[in-house]
Amino acid sequence: MKHEYGTVTTAIVKQLRKIAGEPNVLVDRERMEGYSHDETSVEQYAAMPEVVVTPVTTSQVAQIMKLADTHRIPVTPRGAGSGLSGGAIPIYGGIVLSVEKMNSIVEIDEANLTVTAQAGIVTNELNNRLKELGLFFAGYPMSLETCMLGGNIAENAGGGKAIKYGVTGRYILGMEVVTPQGEILNLGGKNTKDVSGYDLKQLYIGSEGTLGVITEATIKLLGLPKTSSDLLVTFTTPQQAISVVPVLMKQGIIPTSIEFMDYLSTRISCDYLNESLPIEGVGALLLIEIDGIDEAVVEQQLIQVGDLCMEQGAIEVYIAEDANNRERVWSVRRAIAEAIKVYSPIQSLEDIVVPIGSIPKVIPFLDKLSKEHDVLIPCYGHAGDGNLHATVIKNPEFTMEHWLEVEPKILGELYEFIIGELGGKISGEHGIGLKRREFFKEFTSPIEYRVMEQIKRALDPNGIMNPGKILQ
Ligand code: LAC
Ligand code: ZN
Repeated sequence: MKHEYGTVTTAIVKQLRKIAGEPNVLVDRERMEGYSHDETSVEQYAAMPEVVVTPVTTSQVAQIMKLADTHRIPVTPRGAGSGLSGGAIPIYGGIVLSVEKMNSIVEIDEANLTVTAQAGIVTNELNNRLKELGLFFAGYPMSLETCMLGGNIAENAGGGKAIKYGVTGRYILGMEVVTPQGEILNLGGKNTKDVSGYDLKQLYIGSEGTLGVITEATIKLLGLPKTSSDLLVTFTTPQQAISVVPVLMKQGIIPTSIEFMDYLSTRISCDYLNESLPIEGVGALLLIEIDGIDEAVVEQQLIQVGDLCMEQGAIEVYIAEDANNRERVWSVRRAIAEAIKVYSPIQSLEDIVVPIGSIPKVIPFLDKLSKEHDVLIPCYGHAGDGNLHATVIKNPEFTMEHWLEVEPKILGELYEFIIGELGGKISGEHGIGLKRREFFKEFTSPIEYRVMEQIKRALDPNGIMNPGKILQ
């Protein structure tokens, strides 16, 4: 879907200043640079906006959208920019609409177990506030220290606790969205059930900012589990570690997390954080968390899971009970993506997902790709969900030209295998964005793709809402 776009003239900038206030409109290159990329490889995907606006109210967002729609200026909504598929990159220039200043908690409703918050609140800040009340929002993206609620919803962020708690979308009861035409749409509310008409909320969840700007959401809360503990389990080979996952899932115990980290990912993250874990002679690790309301039950389940891992050939099972040790281990896990990026900025961080029974088949295929194409592919991720972050790293000896040739070849072979052989999907949690749109088209049925195009056209006929993402 190609569109002709208007440019951001000085008259438009003037109007934006009138809408959002002088300090909330940025035009100088240096200050806009940070808005030209997300966490994908800057070398491959960055693009400069013409203007960045940081509105402080929903009404300002609506006025900005009206102005943009009238002049056919592309608008790229943005949260923290922690995305990993190029979703927040303004590839056609235009306006970057950052919700970073819309970061308030509107209401905590303890009777209804909900919180209503603006899109720019940082996930961890929200949870820290809720913790004081013995409550929590069960979405747990790994970038929780920086990512923002609006981005989590737009990407339907998954993360490390999805096997037990599911992904972000499960907790969104209500939502305020500004349409591409600048209308304010209120969806859902505080009800647990709602089948009143089409489920428009779900349409916006995971739509990557291509259908509207999410400005506020009402989230279902859960009581904080009273107790939780982690096991760190070491294995000789990645294959041994990953093969335990489907066996574990059959035990009737649902861990909060089963995270997989191969040696290389763990080593790079430990070096980056100047941290140490017992990984000498280890091929891969599983980090398994169990939470619950009864300490004795959790303890019992941990022992059962640990014993099972030993039966399946684990080298060692470590229990990380105190908060300090647990945070050390989890911070190594959470920092892997960033650490590998520092280690090798030119890379492709993948997000494949396969049905859990097929998880053990992924590692041998990655080994084959790695050997055939002479690249390292460290792998880690949410093994319990079948969602693995294989990261294809540019061999430093490759020229950029060779890398740009070989990268899509590797990804094409990987996706072909994951989708064709295993019934998996290209992205489990990072989304299609800019990075995977060609492959998405190639690997999606023409009918499904066409229906998506029809939805996009119906809601955004001028094609101004985050153009060039998901769909081409
Ligand atoms: C993680 C991000 C990369 O799981 O999704 O660390
Ligand atoms: Zn992840």
